[in-house]
Amino acid sequence: MTLVQSIETLIDEMSLEEKAGQLTCLPAARSRATAAAANPDQVELNETEQADAVRKGLVGSLFNGSNAGWHRRMQQIAVGESRLGIPLLFGADVIHGFETIFPVPLGEAASFDPALAERTARAAAIEASAAGLAWNFAPMVDVARDARWGRGVEGAGEDVLVGERFAAARVRGFQGRGDLSEATAMAATPKHFVGYGACIAGLDYNSVDLSERTLRETYFPPFEAGFAAGAAATMAAFNDVAGVPAHANPWLLRTVLRDEMGFDGLVVSDFTGDLELIFHGVAVDGADAARVALLGGVDMSMASGLYMAHLPALVRSGAVPESVVDAAVSRVLQLKHKLGLFDDPHRRTDKPATVDHTAHRALAREAARKSVVMLHNDGILPLAGGQRIALIGPFGEGPGNLHGPWVLFADAAKAIDLASGLRAALGNASLDVVRGCDPEGPIEGGIAAAVAAANDADVIILAVGESEAMSGEAQSRVDIGLPAAQQALADAIAATSKPIVTLLTTGRALVLGEAVARSNAILVNWFLGSEAGHALADILTGAHGPSGRLPISFPVATGQSPFYYDRKRSGRPPETLIDGEQFKTRYREMLNRAAYPFGHGLTYGEIIYLTLDLSHDELASGGTLEICATLENRGTREASELVQLYIHDRVASITPPLCQLKDWRHVTLAPGASCQVSFTLSPDQLCFVGRDCRWTTEPGLFDLWVGPSSEAGLTTSFTLLPG
Ligand code: GLC
Repeated sequence: MTLVQSIETLIDEMSLEEKAGQLTCLPAARSRATAAAANPDQVELNETEQADAVRKGLVGSLFNGSNAGWHRRMQQIAVGESRLGIPLLFGADVIHGFETIFPVPLGEAASFDPALAERTARAAAIEASAAGLAWNFAPMVDVARDARWGRGVEGAGEDVLVGERFAAARVRGFQGRGDLSEATAMAATPKHFVGYGACIAGLDYNSVDLSERTLRETYFPPFEAGFAAGAAATMAAFNDVAGVPAHANPWLLRTVLRDEMGFDGLVVSDFTGDLELIFHGVAVDGADAARVALLGGVDMSMASGLYMAHLPALVRSGAVPESVVDAAVSRVLQLKHKLGLFDDPHRRTDKPATVDHTAHRALAREAARKSVVMLHNDGILPLAGGQRIALIGPFGEGPGNLHGPWVLFADAAKAIDLASGLRAALGNASLDVVRGCDPEGPIEGGIAAAVAAANDADVIILAVGESEAMSGEAQSRVDIGLPAAQQALADAIAATSKPIVTLLTTGRALVLGEAVARSNAILVNWFLGSEAGHALADILTGAHGPSGRLPISFPVATGQSPFYYDRKRSGRPPETLIDGEQFKTRYREMLNRAAYPFGHGLTYGEIIYLTLDLSHDELASGGTLEICATLENRGTREASELVQLYIHDRVASITPPLCQLKDWRHVTLAPGASCQVSFTLSPDQLCFVGRDCRWTTEPGLFDLWVGPSSEAGLTTSFTLLPG
């Protein structure tokens, strides 16, 4: 009997209640992360009630539990005490680590190293699967271009290509390169389908109103890359898309996802996304919401309990065809089979992978180092030895604000803070730590104490930015500058005229006030995870050089949001950068430019781009263009450079963006060394979604440049010949 036949046979034996149970995922009764914190409208059963529901076959998946013993007991009830013995599926949000926490995904994207992301995702899956978890509600692959939105922290930033490469890498990492039935494999769930990062005004859960063309060109590709990498599930987005909620959108979840993309995995609601159809105004009540969600393509209901409560009656009344229910149940059972849960339901808890925490901590330190982006350095870094250092600000010391906003299972006290990292690196060098203020409020006498410490120091490390509470879901901000208390501290410290190294803890682009912008050095350290302090000390002391690059643009002002590098020129682009041009695409107060552009990041070297050569001036439709750049490190230290390849289409039937990233290379250059870096460009890398909403290429003249960011480098041009 084939797998499909055995599943069909099992489905034939199932009651409507048992089918609805397989389409129901509830918050684990034993969980460190109270699901209610995310949304009050979810079903919360206590452990006895949950065990009883499992025994009756009324729930088929639980999420955000983390206790292996409890998972085993619940699994034993499902397979040993329920009528059909269908195993439970345990899911969780293991976004960037389980016990060992890696940099937040946006920070890790700054490494521009998808292979690194695959390694950290693999480590996370090894740790999480040992607790019995087999399904990961990750990676988040939403392209995010509005820094007012708090959830950009979970993704790979504003660029489509970076989004695609990290989506695929993280899927491979979570699922492993082998069979999903292996004990350390976790089903990956590229989320949130689709367009969530384009919520109007950066306001979380708000409407999304994008053209189909933009959806296809910008927001679909990272999902398609995740699906191509084998992702076993996906999660619907909370938002509506052009007026139709993603949770009740047959065009998205059936026509696009199934028919066009060929995705045959599981679609799960995002938390109570099905229940929220009532608040969207497209469902009358819970039963109606269950009906439109299932018919809309949501196979499994998470947290709301609506499918468990209403599907049997909806089928009996004829409002929902049983065949639609059966198709969804089949996808759930197929996933459980693929995960090996039918063959060996206790595999992940009884034969847990041996977790090498030492290796994982070393990987966390490497990933954290590679995530740090140095925006500015007047030469103050790396720190000279023997200096008296004042570490000032709310993020210099203490267990919080190192992991990031969406870490549910790790012990924050085990993370290394900056003060500990510096002490470990500098020995008993003079390090005076003064908080100065809280993340969003003043401390009585805090600034005075900070100024006093600054005046006694040779150099100040100012640790400011966003707290975990200010980042992530439901943390949209109307002003992406520093909170007033931190700005006041920064101003007071700047007034001491002492050398200042500013570190930005953040999950988004920040608008830097004058005081911070005048720092002698500025680094973005995101939320670096378990090894944050050691990694930052590695960079600050020069043990390792910074190599991160911005995966998001840092605007000058919040009012520019949404701001991203591959924006359109418009019909009135400012021709010059001099102020005073009128009737151009600019603000009254300023040009629409980045404070620090996408791709930007400095090293401890001095990398010069010397030459750029193309193999041809013309690219034939079936041909390729060889691109070669020569670089030299004229600095005194080894440097890792991210060499970036951008193109700009001069004329097309759709307004071409200012530029688009088409590839990148990491190179490491010793002082005085030079090297050649090569790229290959083919016509399919020049395609865009045309007026017919299909991918196309059009012949014509293209600008091309190779450089250290989206705004710098050597440039040339070539012609794409007609196909
Ligand atoms: C949250 C998030 C989603 C997460 C889910 C389960 O609201 O939107 O990303 O996977 O609920 O925790």
